[in-house]
Order: sequence, then structure tokens, then C-alpha cells
Amino acid sequence: MIYTHDLDKLKSTFEKVFGKGDGIRVFDAPGRVNLIGEHIDYCGGRVFPAALTLSNTVLCRNNGSRKVRMYATDLKITSEFSLDDIDAAKTLKWGNYPAGVAKELAGAGCELEGMDMLFDSTLPFGSGLSSSASVELASGLAMLSFSKNAKTMAKKLDRVQLALAGQRAENRFCGVNCGIMDQFASAMGKEDNAILLNCSTLEFSYVPLKLGDYTLVLANTKKKHSLGASKYNERRAEVEEGLKLMHEALPDKKFNNLCEYSEDDFTQARPVLDKEPVIRMRVEHVIRENARVTKAAHELSNGDLRSFGVTLREANDSIRYLYEVTGDELDAMFEEAQNFDYCLGSRMTGAGFGGCTINIIPTGAADEFCRELGARYEKRTGITPEFYVCSIGDGVRELKF
Ligand code: GLA
Repeated sequence: MIYTHDLDKLKSTFEKVFGKGDGIRVFDAPGRVNLIGEHIDYCGGRVFPAALTLSNTVLCRNNGSRKVRMYATDLKITSEFSLDDIDAAKTLKWGNYPAGVAKELAGAGCELEGMDMLFDSTLPFGSGLSSSASVELASGLAMLSFSKNAKTMAKKLDRVQLALAGQRAENRFCGVNCGIMDQFASAMGKEDNAILLNCSTLEFSYVPLKLGDYTLVLANTKKKHSLGASKYNERRAEVEEGLKLMHEALPDKKFNNLCEYSEDDFTQARPVLDKEPVIRMRVEHVIRENARVTKAAHELSNGDLRSFGVTLREANDSIRYLYEVTGDELDAMFEEAQNFDYCLGSRMTGAGFGGCTINIIPTGAADEFCRELGARYEKRTGITPEFYVCSIGDGVRELKF
């Protein structure tokens, strides 16, 4: 399948919805896949995402008013908010994401102007591939570029600042207490590279995705993570509890982030942690997953895909049994993939409770894998899944028509 935005067609839709005229510009921000390092970005851990070529594209033009009007091509609905009362947009269904970013940009000094915006997505919404971060980044760069003081603000707000604005928007405006991984990947992605990111310092490096004859296949369970936001926030609260227990267990090592503790520290803290078995499981996942990311990044850099695949499987066990954020559909997709000897590794990716798994598959077998795994999964769950052969693309940017 080819997933592209037909810019000429989008321009004509834009003019149908908002009227003819010059000055339309287009911005694009990708979704992401996370190779490994799940649910540890908000614990100051290391994560290993890569930007996809699946993205949100937004066409924009000033409209000379104080209103931001937004149209989504898939939903075929327009919604709007006023720059003079952005808070009123908190209740918008998806328009709350751009509105939240508008509020952050205005707070940072952007003199925003009324705009018409048309959103077109090749990213399946709610599939764990960060469609919301991609909306935040695409609309963020668009609004910044159309603001009265765009030149000054572009110097002040680089891509990392834009990512942080997107994260704050999601935390403060949309009620999800997410970490920085998704927005960072959508902002800083680089073609054919994964990003090894330290979420505590925001130091990062690019690691070329050396897959040789293999390719990454995303298997979408098509189970929307409807409970996602509340469960996500619940896990965040649990790891905060975990941090307190680590402080209690190791009073000489009061780190700010759970990921600063080593696996040895975890062992030492066991007597205290074991009093709260669920919290102990969450802490164990976080500390061991953080160590696994470093290992996985080495394996990938060395082109050792077999070991990398084994590490991915271990990570899946950890997020499934210790962090408990998978669910029947993701478990079925993971388990069925184990029937294919040529699948080097597999794991869920993203927040969980639905969404996608990633699978390392010989390029020549990808079609067969999608067909056969799809049939097995559908037989087991009654849901028809979707598959995407991953290509890794660039971060947020302006496109030319
Ligand atoms: C969601 C959040 C991220 C991260 C992942 C889990 O995608 O937005 O910040 O916590 O879940 O790794």
C-alpha cells in the first residue's frame, strides 16, 4: 500500500472548504514507532524511537480574523476556536490538540494570527503511532510560521522547544500526562535513522537502521486504546509511588528519576519493594527496560539483528507481565507472530492497550507474513488487522507544492 498526501487534491479541497486565494503553505509531521524503551520516557529513561513516513499534513493560510478554523479530511468536519479564548477549545474533539499548542506558543511569545487549516492524515488514529504528537508538531510549526513575529520566534523555538510545547499541550490541555518521546521523534526524526534519546537530559544521537535484508513490519491490532488515557495516568502514578519506595529503600541514593537506579539498586531495594508487589513489578520493568535500550542500541549498531530481536521479545514480556499494558489483542498479535521462524523479533509498540506490534521480517517474506499473520489474528480475535511496511522518514518540516 502507498500512503501519500496528494497535495494538489488537498489544495483544491482546501479552497472548497475555505475559499480560493493565495498564500497557502503546507507543513508535515510524522508519527513514530518506538523500537524499544516503553513507558520509561516519563521516568527519565532512554528510548529508541524512529519517525515514520506516515504523517499528518496541514495546509494553512491566514484568514485575517482572530479565529483558527480547522478541517479534517477524514472526519469531514470543521471546528474552530478563538485566539482570544483558547481555553474554550479544551472540549473540542481533536481540535483541542492544535488549540493546546496555540496556547503554549502564545505563552512563549508567539503573536498568533487567525488561520484556516486543513489536516490530512495517513496515520491511523488511536493505533499507538503517535497521531496526536504529529498533529501537535505539524500545527505547531504551521502556527509559528504564520505568526506576526515568525522570524524571531523561529530562532527562539527550535524543534526541541516545539516538541516540548507539544508535550505540554497534551499534558495541560488534553489531559494525558505523556512523556517527551513522541513529540521529540516527530520533531527530530531523520530518514533511515532511529533516535537514541535520553529523556532526562534530552541528549540524543541518531543510529542508522541497519536492517540489511530485513524490514520492520507494523501490525495494527485495530483495537483502539480507549482506556488508554486513564490507564496511562494510572501507570504514571504507580511509578511515582515506586520512586518513593526506592527512596525509602536506599536513603543514600535519592535520585529524581526511577531510571537513574541500576539493576543492582533494584535488587537491593527488593525487601522494601516486595511490600507492594504491583509497584515492585512496575519498578522492575522500568529499571530493566532502561538497561535493555542500551543493549538493543548496541546490537542494532553492530548489525546483530538476531540478538536485537531477542531483546525485543524480552521487552515484550516485561511490558506484558510486569507493566501490564498490553491486552488480549496485542498479546494475540505477538503470540501469532512467534509461529513464523523467520520473524527475528516482535513486540508491542507505544502506550499499549491496543495499537501495533513491530516485527523484524525478511523483506522478501513481508507480504506473506502480513497475509498469514493477518489470517491467524483475525481467526483468533474476529478483528481484521492492518499492516504497514515501515519506512523511516524525517521530522516536522515545511513542504513545497
Ligand atoms: C505514549 C506517550 C509516550 C510514551 C509511550 C510509552 O506514546 O505519549 O510519552 O510514554 O506512550 O512508551
